[in-house]
Amino acid sequence: MEKSGTAQGNGRFLPLNGKKIVLGVCGSIAAYKAAHLASKLVQSGAQVDVILTASAEQFVGKATFSALTHRPVTTSLWEANSPLAIDHVSLALDADCVVVAPATANTIAKLALGLSDDALGATVLATSAPLVVAPAMDANMFEHPAVQTNVRTLRERGAVMVGPGEGRLASGLTGKGRMEEPVNIVGIVRQVIGKNGDYAGRKVVVSAGGTQEPIDPVRVITNRSSGKMGYAIAEAARDRGAEVVLVSGPTALANPGGVRVIPAQTVNEMRDAVLPESADADLLVMAAAISDFSPASVASEKIKKSSGSMSIELVKNEDWMPLATGPKLVKVSFAAETGDAANKARSKVASKGAVFSVANDVSEAGSGFGTDTNRVGFVDAAGNIEQMPLMDKLAVAHAILDRALKHLK
Ligand SMILES: Cc1cc2nc3c(=O)[nH]c(=O)nc-3n(C[C@H](O)[C@H](O)[C@H](O)COP(=O)(O)O)c2cc1C
Repeated sequence: MEKSGTAQGNGRFLPLNGKKIVLGVCGSIAAYKAAHLASKLVQSGAQVDVILTASAEQFVGKATFSALTHRPVTTSLWEANSPLAIDHVSLALDADCVVVAPATANTIAKLALGLSDDALGATVLATSAPLVVAPAMDANMFEHPAVQTNVRTLRERGAVMVGPGEGRLASGLTGKGRMEEPVNIVGIVRQVIGKNGDYAGRKVVVSAGGTQEPIDPVRVITNRSSGKMGYAIAEAARDRGAEVVLVSGPTALANPGGVRVIPAQTVNEMRDAVLPESADADLLVMAAAISDFSPASVASEKIKKSSGSMSIELVKNEDWMPLATGPKLVKVSFAAETGDAANKARSKVASKGAVFSVANDVSEAGSGFGTDTNRVGFVDAAGNIEQMPLMDKLAVAHAILDRALKHLK
């Protein structure tokens, strides 16, 4: 395969471009979140056809969803202007994925039983597309053995259950029943659609973000890495079927759905997560900006303000990327440089045991830290440079995976 997304004219990479998604919305207070989900799916390039149950309409109206999706919204099997009026299984046959979010206890029971007395039930029964179900309900309802049995039944039939998460519920109680966040559901949809991609059966480890080396209990040495590049690589690998482990420094980014995230603050914490995870991996992409230096000692108490200057002794950190090994492991390194990045990266490729390095000039406009775009050059062990244009970070991520794939064992 067959990447699921493509770059668009405006340079944005739409990971669900050309994909048809049916979004079934049920009668839960979380239905308002489904509007956000519909919007996120559309922004990812998908064509989204919404089916509202009769109860869902009590919470959010058709107009909201048709405005967000630019598509007719179905509320009944008997609606004259719905695609189902002509062929009651048309949405089911065209879909690449059917998502039910929020899924009520009632609809989960109906799906487990195979009832088709409404448009959503008929569509789920008639589709051969993967089914993603995001339950939302009161915690006691979710824990009820009837609901648990129905959830198990759906799972055993191959449905992918997402959430529910723990937290404050609409009832005012705290517990397990919150609908999973839309951004995570989009991640799961991308994973489900791409599960037979060219990275299926591969394990990919990605490091991302900047590390933080403590000076004292309140201060750290860090850098400007936002983590966006590494997160994009993790998402792209997931979208192509890989099992992905993301070892992440502190970032403001949400954990990507369908990716196992291991938080790591310091260089050593990152090493202690990356090395064991790499042992059985196919690919390690070291996109993290790892501190080259750490304070020689960490003060146990906050260092007091003193007059004049102060100095902190720094010691060089071990470059542990060469220590990442495994019978199948292929490595890709990153080099963030200021000015003529590709040439500067040349000397580092071999020493890191990488098949190529991704060099980027972080001082260039639109490239490097914090931006959504990047201009990189691929530098191989022989010193050949392939300079890329300015691209969306997700497109850069796919370009990295395209090149790494050729080296996988
Ligand atoms: C204010 C309100 C909030 C509700 N929230 C939920 C909910 O979060 N989860 C749930 O399973 N049912 C909830 N219900 C009950 C469902 O709306 C009810 O079971 C309905 O029959 C579901 O129909 P549907 O599954 O066809 O959408 C709620 C009902 C009301 C009145």
